[in-house]
Amino acid sequence: MVHQCVLNMLACIGVALVVIMKCCVVSAGVVTCSGIVPMVYRNDKISIKDFGGVGDGRTLNTKMFNEAVYWIKHLKRRGGTLLYVPKGVYLTESFNLTSHMTLYLAKGAVIKATQNTANWPLIAPLPSYGRGRERPGGRYMSFIHGENVHDVIITGEKGTIDGQGGVWWNMWRQRTLQFTRPNLIEFKDSRNIIISNVIFKNSPFWNIHPVYCSHVVIHHVTILAPPDSPNTDGIDPDSSSHVCIEDSYISTGDDLIAVKSGWDEYGIAYGRPSNDITIRRITGSCPFAGIAVGSETSGGVYNVLAEHITLRNMGVGIHLKTNIGRGGIIRNITVSDVYMVNVRKGIKMASDVGDHPDNNYNPNALPVLKHVRIKNIRGKKVMQAGLIQGLKNSPFTDICLSNINLHRTIGSKYAPWKCSDVSGGSILVRPSPCSQLIQTNPKGTCSTHL
Ligand SMILES: *[C@@H]1O[C@H](CO)[C@@H](O)[C@H](O)[C@H]1NC(C)=O
Ligand SMILES: *[C@@H]1O[C@H](CO)[C@@H](O)[C@H](O)[C@H]1NC(C)=O
Repeated sequence: MVHQCVLNMLACIGVALVVIMKCCVVSAGVVTCSGIVPMVYRNDKISIKDFGGVGDGRTLNTKMFNEAVYWIKHLKRRGGTLLYVPKGVYLTESFNLTSHMTLYLAKGAVIKATQNTANWPLIAPLPSYGRGRERPGGRYMSFIHGENVHDVIITGEKGTIDGQGGVWWNMWRQRTLQFTRPNLIEFKDSRNIIISNVIFKNSPFWNIHPVYCSHVVIHHVTILAPPDSPNTDGIDPDSSSHVCIEDSYISTGDDLIAVKSGWDEYGIAYGRPSNDITIRRITGSCPFAGIAVGSETSGGVYNVLAEHITLRNMGVGIHLKTNIGRGGIIRNITVSDVYMVNVRKGIKMASDVGDHPDNNYNPNALPVLKHVRIKNIRGKKVMQAGLIQGLKNSPFTDICLSNINLHRTIGSKYAPWKCSDVSGGSILVRPSPCSQLIQTNPKGTCSTHL
């Protein structure tokens, strides 16, 4: 009896703690990704040094990382295992992660990709792309790779994962790439992933690519690549659901965050959308888009919320992009509370962006874009406020803009909008939007969520 009572008490304390914790989240007034992926503390810890790791920046540590991961995979310690990477520069070839592991980068720890690209492993193309994104055939495996894994955490004390991408960017520039460049991190067919408190630097290609994943949380990361580095997207959730990205700084050579779901006939056949994607409190700059959906959206994209975004020195602030042959339905996209400065185009929705995998795409597979809410947007030095161009046979519908103020220069006249094949409405938009979106009745099509 006493025993049962103690158990009951413990259960009560547990419930009380949960209630208190929930209260804390609410009272702080800050909504976070917490709760999407359970945080796991690992009692079992090993260090890369235990496997002979040498952090001198010259020794190749591939064998050490592979052995450490093999150990974690096969010893299956209760609660998983943390792999500690101490201060130092650990050069390595690409390696795989396994389930129930934490890759922990201590302060001053750098995991650095080899520049010897000749031995880089090749893997199969993604079925939703049908081929490598850049070159036909397979693609180079991501530098740090997770496939069919779950319960994986990459975190630490702001250590660095450095892709040393320069050698890859040069191959792209010189058109000597044989296959599609590697992502810095890719998780494929995986779930319950957390990436936090790490710096990602000089990715060969896209930085963080969760594809066919669910429940992925990325927060407090810094992603850096030079503005002229080709295709170094920051984070690309691709045919993935329940992805939450927040509190991060991203500065790259392409889009900061681009939500994708496959490419033309391959993406349509694979049919896996990206949905329930939350993006908040992101700051950054890049020559292309800040918050993007597309252009590969053949599996569809729905329920995206991006809020509290600060963009500086951008090509396009908010970019929804698709193409003929893509198919796919993009719907229920909300972008709110964005501040942008020094931007070529504030808001762009386009149906003619991106290339095709091959000539077998279906020209009748028209994309659909509907139910988009863009609100509370402020901008300075925005050369053009907006450009919205749907397709004649598939116009963009229910596109609603509210409380938007995009200046070209302080005190000078507003930059105009340009639209075609779009319907929806607008409230409090300056400069005044194109006639297709002129002031609607507040009870009209755009009243919901405005
Ligand atoms: C890493 O994962 C890829 C993709 O699953 C696989 O092809 C490769 O053999 C793995 N490499 C190692 C060293 O386990
Ligand atoms: C639209 O997406 C939001 C998330 O951004 C979600 O909360 C909401 O339920 C969705 N609405 C519909 C009608 O699916």
